Amino acid sequence: MSVLKEHFGSRLGFVLAAAGSAVGIGNLVGFPVAAAKNGGGAFLIIYAFLVLCVCLPVMLAEISLGRNTQQSPLGAYRTLSKRSFWWQLVGWLVLVTPYMIAVFYMVITVWILGYLCEAATGQLSALAEPEYFGQFVNSNKIFGYFAIVVLLVNVILLGGVKNGIERAAKIMMPALCLMLAGLVVFVLTLDNAYAGLVYYLVPDFSKINAAVINGALSQAFFSLSLGMGIMITYGSYISRHEKLAGSAKLVAAMDTAVAFFAGLMVIPAIFSFNPNIDTAALSDSSVALIFTFLPKIFLALQAVIGYVGASVVATLFFLLVFFAAITSLVSITEVPVSSLVNERGYSRGRALLILTLTMALLTIACILSFGRVAFLSEFMVYAGQSKALFEVIVDVFYETILPLNGFLLCLFVIYRWKKQGFNAELECSDPAYKGSLLERYVNVSLGTFIPLILLLIFINTVLLKYFGISLIG
Ligand code: PHE
Repeated sequence: MSVLKEHFGSRLGFVLAAAGSAVGIGNLVGFPVAAAKNGGGAFLIIYAFLVLCVCLPVMLAEISLGRNTQQSPLGAYRTLSKRSFWWQLVGWLVLVTPYMIAVFYMVITVWILGYLCEAATGQLSALAEPEYFGQFVNSNKIFGYFAIVVLLVNVILLGGVKNGIERAAKIMMPALCLMLAGLVVFVLTLDNAYAGLVYYLVPDFSKINAAVINGALSQAFFSLSLGMGIMITYGSYISRHEKLAGSAKLVAAMDTAVAFFAGLMVIPAIFSFNPNIDTAALSDSSVALIFTFLPKIFLALQAVIGYVGASVVATLFFLLVFFAAITSLVSITEVPVSSLVNERGYSRGRALLILTLTMALLTIACILSFGRVAFLSEFMVYAGQSKALFEVIVDVFYETILPLNGFLLCLFVIYRWKKQGFNAELECSDPAYKGSLLERYVNVSLGTFIPLILLLIFINTVLLKYFGISLIG
């Protein structure tokens, strides 16, 4: 089986595909706003520190698991645990998580495509109306956009690892960087952009507290696509002679750089629209920002560059977010695809067909959970709040299970697979890694404080989300 297994064509191919997965909606909108609200430069420093000291070791652990076993997450946990029942159960969790996250990410990607098409066809002023988003999510157009996104993801994934995933990343990632650079340059020339820059970059350490650090770590963990089995799966597509540590560092650096530059685009744009804005008033939710707040800002640009110019900028922005979302969606859908191929010996086509059909049902249930079907819209009540199916999936799989998966992964790699096996995997293609400071740090941190931190985040989230109890304010 492993002889036939398809691999990335080059190191660059892996790095771009993994960065494509990592760069997503979280980087482009979630990160800038979190930074602006929580101490600007102080948040940036803490974020960079967490990426380096907490997330990079976890990423190395995931990639090594995949490359060593050349299998999808379930097979990786099974093989290295010698078929332990409990660890296979963890493997299942790492399979169900991306499946469910793919469903909610698909819904957001469909909305982005919708806004992209509307902005491109001159509807920017409609998008900026306060009630537009609510009507849009419940309009029938959604199903058309949904069909397009499903088709695109399937076409890319049917192409396989090299001709599908890698090729798409090689086209979309450079295009994304170019668009981002163009928009940053444009935004920085606007009036009042400087006030935004100050807000984004000047450190204010008084805003840093435990809740901010918790938020920064969750953001970094999600942003690097950890805890979802993606890096295990992509790791299984890396050939034996690639240096893993160097590639992982590159992926983390690219992801963080895109997030940083996205801040240079989003925050000054908001300030140029309203120089006296109180960033505390900005919503924490990326969704509210992209779909209700930013269209207003784009429309306001018409005073400077006219309606057509403003529409072009909005279109570019949504295209940028769309590319970022598609490469993330591709990576997360690949996890169950590779599992069906590995475990069941299905062809990619058959695996895709099964997944597309089952995921489509769930996605449609989510699409209907914004008021159209009462049962789905008031799916559950916890911590005194009624939640729609879409929100339940976000809370359970994104907010809660991701840190749990990360915690279990650390324990698995260090205490079950054991350091010797893990280190040997990283050293085999990279003799310089042996005995390096990084190696020692990765071993110690993954066996001690990283799982501890992830466990605390998990416990804190459970108490807060489902019982309304806040440990860290
Ligand atoms: N890294 C992605 C982001 O920042 C998260 C993600 C990856 C979501 C893959 C879904 C699939 O948006």
